[in-house]
Amino acid sequence: MAVHIVFFQLCVALIALPIHILALLGLWDPIAKKVLPYLLNRVTKNYNKYMKDHKKELFSNLNEFRGPSVELRVLELGCGTGANFQFYPEGCQVTCVDPNPNFKKFLSASLAESQHVQFQAFVVAPGESMTQIQSGSMDVVICTLVLCSVDNVEDILAEAHRVLRPGGAYYFIEHVKADPSSWNYFFQIILDPTWKYIGDGCKLTKETWKYLEKSKFSDVKLRHIIAPFKHSPVKPHIIGYAVK
Ligand SMILES: C[S@@+](CC[C@H](N)C(=O)[O-])C[C@H]1O[C@@H](n2cnc3c(N)ncnc32)[C@H](O)[C@@H]1O
Repeated sequence: MAVHIVFFQLCVALIALPIHILALLGLWDPIAKKVLPYLLNRVTKNYNKYMKDHKKELFSNLNEFRGPSVELRVLELGCGTGANFQFYPEGCQVTCVDPNPNFKKFLSASLAESQHVQFQAFVVAPGESMTQIQSGSMDVVICTLVLCSVDNVEDILAEAHRVLRPGGAYYFIEHVKADPSSWNYFFQIILDPTWKYIGDGCKLTKETWKYLEKSKFSDVKLRHIIAPFKHSPVKPHIIGYAVK
């Protein structure tokens, strides 16, 4: 790696030195797990403001994947604060999965604001092993801004594939690695070593589309977009859905 990159990475790390020290002592993770839901609750409102049109468009055909049951069965994987509920169709049945139990309070608030969805359960589990969810029991799995912070993306995609009924769909929105010739990429690589602590393991330079392209899903509809934020290292996104 070029010397000037390492220099800038160290500068950023220096600014966030207390976080790096806490991480070295093994104390940062429990703090992050408690703080992240509050942080995300604020960030989500802003994110949805800018991404509203993209989300509306993406989720507009959810009902096409309704299976034999009367209502659409949705699994929100890595649900966080429940940022997507407002975009779901009337009456759909939503099961939430997230390994961080501290999101429960924020999830309840989002549910109170989205009474058109039927809440089923909040399952505290990592997406890599959602053993509580039966195979083939979901019409759609929705997973947004999650794969950036997951070590084993292949396992999450395999689990999403398992819980979907044949013909069901996996919907995704993920921020991804920027064009290596762009300034955006430069900021991503200098921020990455510190960002992972602030974003609970989030990696800015992940090429997530590659995992989707080689997954078990038969039909992957994936678009690269630039999110309409003003200044942010997470502008490049992929968005779409993949059919089982
Ligand atoms: C940036 S938040 C996104 C939350 C929400 N999906 C959204 O779009 O606002 C990342 C979420 O992924 C969850 N997460 C992290 N690791 C996970 C894993 N291995 N399996 C499932 N969820 C995970 C986090 O707890 C957090 O709720």
